Amino acid sequence: MTGRFRRILAAGVAVLGPVLVPVLVPVLGLATATPVLAADWTWSLPGHVPEPRVPADNPMSAVKVELGRRLFYDTRLSGNGTIACASCHIQGKAFTDGRALSPGSTGGLTHRNAQPLANSAWNATYTWANPALVSLERQMEVPLFGDDPVEMGVTDANRAAILERLRADPVYPPLFRQSFSDEAEPLAMATVIKAIAAFQRGIVSVDSRYDRYLQGKASLSEAETRGMALFFGERAECHHCHGSFNFNDQVVHARSREVETPFHNTGLYNLDGTGAYPFPNRGLFEFTAKPEDMGAFRAPSLRNVAVTGPYMHDGSIATLAAVIDAYSDGGRAVRSGAQKGDGRLNPHKSSLISRIGLTPQEKRDLLAFLGTLTDETLLTDPRWSNPWKE
Ligand code: HEC
Ligand code: HEC
Repeated sequence: MTGRFRRILAAGVAVLGPVLVPVLVPVLGLATATPVLAADWTWSLPGHVPEPRVPADNPMSAVKVELGRRLFYDTRLSGNGTIACASCHIQGKAFTDGRALSPGSTGGLTHRNAQPLANSAWNATYTWANPALVSLERQMEVPLFGDDPVEMGVTDANRAAILERLRADPVYPPLFRQSFSDEAEPLAMATVIKAIAAFQRGIVSVDSRYDRYLQGKASLSEAETRGMALFFGERAECHHCHGSFNFNDQVVHARSREVETPFHNTGLYNLDGTGAYPFPNRGLFEFTAKPEDMGAFRAPSLRNVAVTGPYMHDGSIATLAAVIDAYSDGGRAVRSGAQKGDGRLNPHKSSLISRIGLTPQEKRDLLAFLGTLTDETLLTDPRWSNPWKE
């Protein structure tokens, strides 16, 4: 069954922060047309997408997003200067890296699969299964400072030297000053984190063919339409966990009051027939040690899923067709090796995951529908590309 966490968010609009030149902009896509104060930043979102929640102490601004973009692509931000955030989050792969697990700056592999970053502004929790990580700013401490494994390898010993590298590049000091004019020291690790978080909030994917279809600007083929009916229907049940505008089920936005953060076991493993998942990837169980949380992970957004393989928290399913096979079977049986076990019989599996028995045609239809979620704008837009190549 699913572990459920609820958080009550403070009521009120969180986008107001200290801004230099407040201007009135209409809020697009909300039921009311009430003007809202904002900095020089507008979310242009289609009607089916609500505005994200932005922390009051890190308001959006165009210059900060541009600064964050530079930092996101800057290998000087890692201790030994070898990797950047973008090494594991590549735009053309919807900000994933095509690997099951990813090498950090000192060669150690991450425990889990690198996640896509588009629309992460709307995530209620971050990473595959961590109910405690509820902001992009906090999440970033993992890749920057984490040591299991080392990713960017920023430490107390090299932090000053890293900031000095940034200060020495004439591009940075003015961008930091403009972005953080209220800070006594605008160029610091805390502002590095805020700028990258703002850049990530600005990575928005709402221009897939499916989005255009919803707006009456594109059509779906017969196969895609059949696949959509399966996806949102009660036989395949995909929509129960992937049914939001972001194709997941942990969404927070500017007007959310109550936020649900469910995690689910989809029957991928069943070590020794006890329902166990392999350490250290036991999902929510790693935090709660409650048996019912064994193997429970956050349902990932399925936007751009055609280009984000390999799949699942550990990258253990190579293709989208094989993911659909596993759902059709009600879980995955691992036939040999150390992880042998029949996930279909996992006692902690969600009650929403059971054998569907899709026909080959239905599998192709579902695959075709998932293909409509690819957003070419996201994959190619210069706003999110490597600025150091210009
Ligand atoms: C070595 C590869 C690697 C590097 C470098 C890296 N990441 Fe990640 N990223 C990952 C992996 C793996 C995950 C999944 C982590 C988990 O579930 O434990 C992840 C998850 C994330 C998430 C969570 C997304 C979500 O949907 O919850 C964000 C945000 C993120 N990374 C941002 C960054 C930023 C910003 C940087 C640079 C400061 C960065 N990453 C550097 C591999 C990397
Ligand atoms: C009970 C909730 C639930 C249901 C129902 C569900 N999923 Fe999922 N889905 C998840 C979770 C949780 C994961 C991640 C599991 C893991 O890695 O252990 C996932 C992962 C995926 C992935 C891999 C995405 C990636 O980036 O790795 C795809 C594709 C997917 N689901 C498609 C579907 C389809 C298609 C259906 C309907 C047939 C479906 N899901 C039904 C919860 C669900």
